[in-house]
Amino acid sequence: MKMEDYKRRGILRLPGSCRRKPNEWMKAAVTITVSIVFGFFIGVSFPDISPPKLKLVPSIDTYLGDKNSGRSTQTILNAISVSRDNVSSKAQKLDDPSQIFVSTNPRGAERLPPAIIAAESDLYPRRLYGRPSEDLIFKPKYLVTFTVGYNQKDNIDQAVRKFSDNFTILLFHYDGRTTEWDEFEWSKRAIHISVLKQTKWWYAKRFLHPDIVAPYDFIFIWDEDLGVENFNAEEYIKLVKKHKLEISQPGLDLKSKGLAWHMTRRQEDVEVHKKINEKKEKPGWCTYPHLPPCAAFVEIMAPVFSREAWRCVWYLIQNDLVHGWGLDFALQKCVQPANEKIGVVDAQWIVHQGVPSLGNQGNEDDGKAKWKGVRKRSQKEWKMFRDRLFKAEEDYYKSIGVENMVPKANWVNKNKTK
Ligand SMILES: *[C@@H]1O[C@H](CO)[C@@H](O)[C@H](O)[C@H]1NC(C)=O
Ligand SMILES: *[C@@H]1O[C@H](CO)[C@@H](O)[C@H](O)[C@H]1NC(C)=O
Repeated sequence: MKMEDYKRRGILRLPGSCRRKPNEWMKAAVTITVSIVFGFFIGVSFPDISPPKLKLVPSIDTYLGDKNSGRSTQTILNAISVSRDNVSSKAQKLDDPSQIFVSTNPRGAERLPPAIIAAESDLYPRRLYGRPSEDLIFKPKYLVTFTVGYNQKDNIDQAVRKFSDNFTILLFHYDGRTTEWDEFEWSKRAIHISVLKQTKWWYAKRFLHPDIVAPYDFIFIWDEDLGVENFNAEEYIKLVKKHKLEISQPGLDLKSKGLAWHMTRRQEDVEVHKKINEKKEKPGWCTYPHLPPCAAFVEIMAPVFSREAWRCVWYLIQNDLVHGWGLDFALQKCVQPANEKIGVVDAQWIVHQGVPSLGNQGNEDDGKAKWKGVRKRSQKEWKMFRDRLFKAEEDYYKSIGVENMVPKANWVNKNKTK
């Protein structure tokens, strides 16, 4: 066929063709706009893409050519943005079918065939021999970590005994002493990670990435100085499930040292509580009774996270703020509605013994006691964390054009430290 024949049959449509009806002009205009937008997307997403890949564009024209479909430009744009994720892989294939590029793969792994990608891991030890498929006859469903020094061994031994075989035991050693723990039978099946003088939030950020601890339904990230006489982990989990708590802690016995908040004190005659009467807390602290520290609040000494909650909380932990102060006020950002999904389990309770531990491992500063430097830094970190989060929220709301959002109810006690 000659060019004229193509034109007559409507196969070839040149932009300048005078044979178009008015609504075809509209369509052409839309097509061009869409193509530009589409090209922009491709340019933004895949800057190193080469021109032949734009072969994809004509397929959009077929949306427009369908007279009966009644699709709006918006629908088309939606379709483009949906298929955008697949564009690069298709585009690569069109260009060079031997090159793999799958944009829905984890970042950095786009060149791997999806079926080989192991995106998550676990902490299950394996054997050196035999069939891999038979290595794991039993997979613990829960994880408990303690950040420990050897001086606390007896207390940790007691604590570990309250956790059944359904738990992976992970010890973070801040004093470098690990082999000594093998006097305990359970130590041989525990995971030991040792880095001198680091805190549990430092460890948690480095070793408990959500993709690493993905198999565990619940993660306990506990201090070493907790008395567990009235605590049983299996029973605790039952209550957490029953009351649908995504973030929780056991109630603190009134004998505990340094009870800082009313919310985390053990209440008698209830299984769980999710808020306290704001009159119990210091005046002015609970302007928003559904927010910390009167609801949606647990402390950082013995928190328990669901897998989903931990996936968010891990991102909140700052690399340089090692003491975690202020994190307790922010945990509520990770679950909705926070005042229903965060709570204290009263029926399984613990005693905070408050023994000097890592807090006593600071540097002697001008002859002051070691713990004072640690305390000072902890308080400073609280302020830094609060300011960062406040600013991050402010920046976010500004970026979407919402004014004066943060100072209202979104961030409590901006100017207070206890
Ligand atoms: C990508 O393509 C695959 C198969 O071609 C399809 O199943 C999937 O839904 C597409 N994803 C998106 C985001 O369009
Ligand atoms: C471990 O979990 C299983 C399944 O939930 C449960 O049946 C079993 O009783 C648990 N083990 C202990 C020691 O509680």
